Amino acid sequence: MHMAEPRSFVPEPQNGRDLRDAFGLFATGVTIVTTGDPSGCAAITVNSFSSVSMDPPLVLWSPARRSRRYAQFAEARHYAIHVLAADQHELAFAVARDATALQDLPLGRNGWGVPVLDQCLARFDCHRYAVHDAGDHAIVVGEVLRATMQQGDPLAFFGGRMARIDNN
Ligand SMILES: Cc1cc2nc3c(=O)[nH]c(=O)nc-3n(C[C@H](O)[C@H](O)[C@H](O)COP(=O)(O)O)c2cc1C
Repeated sequence: MHMAEPRSFVPEPQNGRDLRDAFGLFATGVTIVTTGDPSGCAAITVNSFSSVSMDPPLVLWSPARRSRRYAQFAEARHYAIHVLAADQHELAFAVARDATALQDLPLGRNGWGVPVLDQCLARFDCHRYAVHDAGDHAIVVGEVLRATMQQGDPLAFFGGRMARIDNN
């Protein structure tokens, strides 16, 4: 593997682009988080998801405080986290652009009334466990009430781009 000379810097407001690029070198999956909304379903595309604890079963993700969707997701009592499959990249971008992008799809409801996608690699039905301050984001910790999974290739996010991982 070829690596160019490392470049290091102290994070400052004026080199935020570099910090974003450095954070983007951590390859992640892609999720869509959904919660109930008076008009149906609110959704957000999220790659800050992480599993945290087995006992109790906990996961986390980080909403940006500046997001118009922040209050709704930081205050949600129940929400569902969908781990996306490789062929769901367009859906991920559509939800990133528009919180109501899922409203025209045939959504189901989980046992807690949260609108859910029927297709995804894994789904974690969560209830609010804790919300912690974290700078310009919050850390939302959810307790997993039910987990659902199926086989497929995962969608990945790296360097600002979506990629398919072949899982065979
Ligand atoms: C791959 C990907 C990952 C993202 N991850 C997060 C995330 O972890 N937290 C977050 O607040 N926004 C994340 N976003 C941005 C939101 O999906 C959405 O674009 C943003 O909230 C739009 O601003 P608005 O909520 O004000 O409409 C991500 C977007 C993409 C495309």
